[in-house]
This record gives sequence, structure tokens and C-alpha cells, in this order.
Amino acid sequence: MFHFKTIIEPFRIKSVEMVKFTHREEREAALREAGWNVFRLHAEDVLVDLLTDSGTGAMSAAQWGALMQGDESYAGSRSYYRFRDVVRDLTGFRHIIPTHQGRAAERILFHTILKPGFVVPNNNHFDTTRANVEVEEAEARDLVVPEGHLPSFIHPFKGNMDLAALERTLAAEGDRIPLVMVTVTNNTGGGQPVSLENLRGVRALCDRYHKPFFLDACRFAENAYFVKMREPGQAGRTPKAIAQEMFSLADGCTMSAKKDGLANIGGFLAMNDDVWAERCRNLLILTEGFPTYGGLAGYDLEAVARGLEEVVEEPYLRYRIRSIEYLAERLVAAGVPIIQPAGGHAVYLDARALLPHVPPLQYPGIALTAALYLEAGIRGVEIGTVMFGRHPDGREEPAPMDLVRLAIPRRVYTQSHIDYVAEAVIAVAGSRDGLRGYRIVSAPAVLRHFTATFEPL
Ligand SMILES: Cc1ncc(COP(=O)(O)O)c(C=O)c1O
Repeated sequence: MFHFKTIIEPFRIKSVEMVKFTHREEREAALREAGWNVFRLHAEDVLVDLLTDSGTGAMSAAQWGALMQGDESYAGSRSYYRFRDVVRDLTGFRHIIPTHQGRAAERILFHTILKPGFVVPNNNHFDTTRANVEVEEAEARDLVVPEGHLPSFIHPFKGNMDLAALERTLAAEGDRIPLVMVTVTNNTGGGQPVSLENLRGVRALCDRYHKPFFLDACRFAENAYFVKMREPGQAGRTPKAIAQEMFSLADGCTMSAKKDGLANIGGFLAMNDDVWAERCRNLLILTEGFPTYGGLAGYDLEAVARGLEEVVEEPYLRYRIRSIEYLAERLVAAGVPIIQPAGGHAVYLDARALLPHVPPLQYPGIALTAALYLEAGIRGVEIGTVMFGRHPDGREEPAPMDLVRLAIPRRVYTQSHIDYVAEAVIAVAGSRDGLRGYRIVSAPAVLRHFTATFEPL
């Protein structure tokens, strides 16, 4: 019997969306018009869009079919109960509260439980999570393991929480900590996974200090597959069984179904605590909608329910994790500095290492992002000093890293798209000496990276 090594896309394509080819001059005009911020481009002018893996995935035929099953009843719709049952089967949580996306779940949770001066420990807060903590005048404290700060250091679980630092924080901050969070996988830290052993360690500390433990579960399935591949003793388990154990260690979660829900919109907040759940539902009614739809259409609930079933299938996860690793391997072979090992949903280029002549406050991540678009029509995103460098008091300082994230939408691009991306990144890296920094022309007070405008120096 033959054993074939090639891992193929575990689907065939029955509907396609054409992409538009542009010339360099057209892209330069478009980027200038956009204030040199790729968030402000018309997506139509992008050839390969790696801005985000959030809400950009391709739904399956089964999900499109499920849309037609949507029950649009305002209260108690059949689609809600199907959604609730799928989420409950996966997470085991008592209260399942749909929201229109992840940040809505974050806002409702944090507005309900935070007071000024509170502290939320996390391995790394993602930008919206951090902003939703800070808007309540609380502190978002990142406690990822030291390995998580070393881009080229190979470690199987660079998303792990630093348990000693967490214990010190729990002891020092006491009642100012309302809950502990862990983000799986750790998007800000490079899409790096968290081990089951580490989650058990967080659970034990939360028990000792009587704190609830919540997961930011956006990429729970990718995390589960890394656990299966990398954690001793886990290889024989299904990704779903591993995911169920991850959730069983927590008391609740926030979830953006735009990632591992394989849906274009949706999310949820889930928890066991009856009192918190009631307070969250009251706020949900005020801003999202009735608790059985939470800002979603019945058909969205159907798509998410089906997506959560598909995302834990092993052929899907094997292809998913391998396709990111494949891009990373090609870049590493060409000497392009990236976060290693590859994350679950993205390759993170180390712009600070690639462009040592561009100081962090001249935004090397923006310089590299602009060059990838100008030269190849590829849209990535800066995760660095623009995104994280400005503090609530207005100070600006370099973020811990200046990265450019190339996030791979789920089930959208084929291997030849990824080959094109590799070729383009390697070419741009080869012309690094010609890339210059940028200065900010205008920026809003919060989440400035989305809408800031820049000017090349
Ligand atoms: C780790 C993490 N948490 C939360 C969110 C917010 O989710 P949403 O974009 O659905 O609001 C994201 C989105 O990128 C994320 O990556």
C-alpha cells in the first residue's frame, strides 16, 4: 500500500469568486488615497487578502444549506436551540449567550464585572479585548511565558501563561482581579497554542485564589489540534475531545465565531455562573438583542452551529495547520525572519528584525505592510507599535514586537495562492534596504490602527 505525504485541501470547490489583478501604479494610487493604511483600502483592489482570518472564511455547502433552515422567530427560535445545543456539547457551559461577534461578548462581560482599578490577567489580550478592559478603566495585564516574547525561539506552547507570574499577580492584586483569562490560540503572541497542562495549572491557581477562569476561545480548534500534535499523551485523542477538556477547565468563555466558528459573523459568551449570566443577559437585551438571538439572524445561528461541528474534524484541522506551516517553512528557508514555530492561523513576519534601519516609532510593520501591498497586492496587517504602542495616558513607546501578520482565511486560498505569497514576501525581503519608515498624520483616541493615516518619511 502507498502512503502519500501530500496533505491536500480536504474539499472541492463548487463556487468561485474572481480576484482582480492591478498594476503597481494603481496600487500606489489606492494606498496613497487610503493614507497608507491598508485597513482603508477597497478590498476589491487587493489580490490576496490576508488582513484577517476573522469572518473571511468560506462556508461549506452544508452551512449554506443550513442558512435556509434559519428560524427567524424573535424569541425562542429553533435555530437558537440548535446553536445552544452544539455550543453546550462542546463547552459544557450552562449559559450560552449569542452575540454578533467576539468583541460584543467581551464588552458585555467586562462592562458587567469590571470596576475602575481592576486587573485582568491574560496570556496576551487581543486589541479589542484590551480596549474593552481599558474602557472600563481597568488594567489588561499580559502574562505570557517569556518564550512568547522571543520570535525565533522554537517552543511547542509559546502561548502558555506564565504560572509563576500569574500566582504573584493573584497574590498581589487580590480582590482587584475579577477573573483570569487565557486566549487560545494566543493571537497577539503569534497564534501560538496553550497546552492542556498549562490550562490545568491556571485552573489550579484560580481554584486556590477563588477566581473564575475564562477562555478567549476564538481559535479553540486550532489550539486543540496543536495539543494533539505536540503534547505528550494527546496524539490518540480527537480534536473535539481535547477541545472539550480545554473548556471543562474553564468557567466560561468569550468566542468570536468568525474564526473557529467557520462563519462570516457571530459569537457568544458562555459561562456557568447564574448571577453573572443574568446581569450579562440584561445588558445583552439593551445593546445586542433578545437572549435567544443576541444580534444575529436565525440563519447565522445555524451557520455557526454547523461550523462548530465542521471545525473539529481532523482532515480539516490537519490541512489548516499544515497550510500555515508550509508558508512558514518556505519563508524560513529563504531567511525571512518570522515567529517560530508557525501559528495556527497566520504567519507573523518579524518586521523589526527585517528592517533594523527603521526605528519602532517609525513603524517598521507599516513599512513592510505597505511594501507587500505595493509590490504584490497582498494585504497583511501590522501588529506592533501602531496597534499597541500608545498607552491610555497618551504616551507612545515601542510595542514588545513589530510584526506583520499574514492571516490565512479558512478554506479560501489554494496552495498556489500561498506559493505566490511566499514568492512575494521573499522578493520584498530582498529589497528591504529601500524600505522607509512612516509617521502618523491622524489617529483616533482608541484602536488607532484601524483608521489612522500615515505619510512615508
Ligand atoms: C483573540 C481574539 N479575541 C477576540 C477577538 C474579537 O473578535 P471579533 O472580531 O469577532 O469581535 C479577536 C478577533 O480578531 C481575536 O483574535
